[in-house]
Parts: sequence; C-alpha cells; structure tokens
Amino acid sequence: MLLGVNIDHTATLRNARGGNDPDVVMCARVCKEYGADSITVHLREDRRHIKDEDVRAIRVLPRVKMNLEMAMTDEMQKIALELRPYAVCIVPENRKEITTEGGLEVKNQLQRVKDFVKPLVEKGINVSLFIDPDIHQVSAAAQTGAQYIELHTGRYAEAFGTDREQEVFEELKGSAVFAQNLNLTVNAGHGLTYDNVSRMHEIPNLYELNIGHSIICRAVMVGLPQAVKEMKELITK
Ligand code: PXP
Repeated sequence: MLLGVNIDHTATLRNARGGNDPDVVMCARVCKEYGADSITVHLREDRRHIKDEDVRAIRVLPRVKMNLEMAMTDEMQKIALELRPYAVCIVPENRKEITTEGGLEVKNQLQRVKDFVKPLVEKGINVSLFIDPDIHQVSAAAQTGAQYIELHTGRYAEAFGTDREQEVFEELKGSAVFAQNLNLTVNAGHGLTYDNVSRMHEIPNLYELNIGHSIICRAVMVGLPQAVKEMKELITK
C-alpha cells in the first residue's frame, strides 16, 4: 500500500499566525523524503487552510506527486485543468463542516459527475471519487470514467474497538472488493490512525491510504520525519 500524506493541518497552523511558519511547501518535501508516496492538499472553496499559492508551489516540486482534493465546482475544475496535478480527488464540501463529513453523492447525480470527470481524465489526470463504502455509490462511480475511488473510512475509524467494528469493517472490505471487480483502483482514507490502520492490510489490493490528522498530531510529539516514517512502516509491513 502507498502512503498519501494530507498536509492541510500544516497550513491551518501557519494561518493561525499569518506568516510562513511552518513552511507548507517544506512540509511537503519532508513528507516525501521520509516516505510519502503522494502529498494531498485540499483546496477548499473558503481557502481556510491550503491556499492557491501552496498548490502551485507543491505542484512543481520535483518528484512529488500531488493529489488535489477539491469540490465539484467550475472554479476547482479550472484550477485542476490548468495545473494538471498527478491526481484529483473529488469530495463533497460543506462550508460549515470541520472536515469532509460524508462521501460524494454519485448515484443521484451520475451525469453531472461524468461531465465533471471527463475533461480531467482527458488531460491525463488520475481522478478519484471520495465515496462512502456503499455498493450503490461504488457501482455509480464505476460508470463515471473516474479510474479511482477513495473509500471513506470515517465510519470504520469511529467503530474501531467497539462492538460494531467487524460489521463496519466488512462493509468497507466488501465495497473495496466490489469496486476492484468493476476495474476501479481503490484508495481509502479519513480518520485512519497508527492504531486502526493495521486492518487495512486485510483488504486485498488497496492502492493508497490518505492520512492527515493522525500524522500531523504525531509530528507534534516526535517530529514530521519520524511521524511519516512510522506510518510508512505500518502500512508497508
Ligand atoms: N481523504 C479525504 C478525501 C479527506 O477529505 C481527508 C480529510 O481531509 C482525508 C483523507 C484525511 O483524513 P484524516 O485527516 O482524518 O486522516
């Protein structure tokens, strides 16, 4: 499994004081150096953490594969078509949410998603849809032209260590296998931690895990290089 590190929280910290500390671009370089296979940045409509200039600067870092997380808006599509990141992950976005809450609704707006994905794929971008582990959403995603899905692991993370863990995990695993049978490449992320990430090894052929909060929190204790290294070891063992 590959490791995608989401560095949005480094931008939140920087923005708290308005200067350039920590340097978000440097954080991306450090993550790459210590094991990140890709760097995820979520350019939100309200620019509450990552800014346009961060995306532009990370996009041109040598050997760094940037995964641009974004809402399904014309503005974001234009930015993606111009910058041509390695990957785009389309997420639902709600202004008031603290973090991405649920998966993208694909089934009930299939044509709209198809129309949004098409020019991105035509530009050579790897397009992923962030969806809930629900076979109806997965089968809709398989009809959009997107090559990837990212399964929302938030419910699994919440159920981890409780009576519901196994049931929720089976749902996640079943959705991943179902998607792979429809020729989708399957990533996963949201709420994954140093504790709950180990069960991702039980899901066959997961391609990449996208992890942010837990790694940046650990970095406060042990430093970013060590935090990334530790997670990388857990997911490649
Ligand atoms: N994947 C997606 C699509 C997300 O929106 C997020 C949160 O920004 C993550 C992964 C990472 O989640 P976490 O910060 O909980 O690891």
